[in-house]
Amino acid sequence: MLFQFFKKKKKGSSITDLSFLQTDMHSHLVPGVDDGADSVEASLTMLEGFAAMGYKKVITTPHIRPDYFPNTKETLAAGFSKLQAALETSDLKLEVEYAAEYFVDFDFLKKLETEELLTFSGNHLLIELSTFAPAPNLYDIVFQLRIKGYQPILAHPERYLYYSDLKDFVKLKDFGCLFQTNILSLAGHYGKEVKDLSQKLLKKGMVDLLGSDMHHVRHLESLKELSMENDKVMKLISNHQFLNSTL
Ligand SMILES: [Fe+2]
Repeated sequence: MLFQFFKKKKKGSSITDLSFLQTDMHSHLVPGVDDGADSVEASLTMLEGFAAMGYKKVITTPHIRPDYFPNTKETLAAGFSKLQAALETSDLKLEVEYAAEYFVDFDFLKKLETEELLTFSGNHLLIELSTFAPAPNLYDIVFQLRIKGYQPILAHPERYLYYSDLKDFVKLKDFGCLFQTNILSLAGHYGKEVKDLSQKLLKKGMVDLLGSDMHHVRHLESLKELSMENDKVMKLISNHQFLNSTL
């Protein structure tokens, strides 16, 4: 089931049109800095894929996570400059920027107090949580972020299955947090529970942004084939409005 979207493209079929979104704001395309693109070539392949699906702008968001991906502004700037150099010699018609996806752990508040965080489209800041256990101080963090003028966006809330009750999500939204759902979550790429929760959040009007969370070419292929493999998801998406095009 998980691999149903990896099938070869059917002859004569077209790739998914996601042009209405205009901007993708969650992916891992800075080469060699996290578990995303491992080379400039891989980054370019995925960016070409975004352009083919109709996107105009990609804001890529490498992990900053002290335990696994201890990136800093400097490591990300260096990685992005390699990609930028390759983009300058390519004929890709796509605006490409970078920010980061910050992992919220016990140290995050300290980070917030001591440094300026990487944002996009003004003050937008992408945060992620452990998929195993909630961060005990999450509401405080969201509150502090708002006080400091950031607009927090929670990456893929549907993957935090410990929030089984929608009340937790409602509370987060009340604190001023925006939600970004992975398009592939809606299609079942991360399992049935994640799919069900993502669709529930979407139907309740709680999803502000859609993202690819693209790490590798398999994600790209899954997205490109979505429209012919899962028309239901495309219809579901088209019934809602998202903030992507405002970024
Ligand atoms: Fe991500």
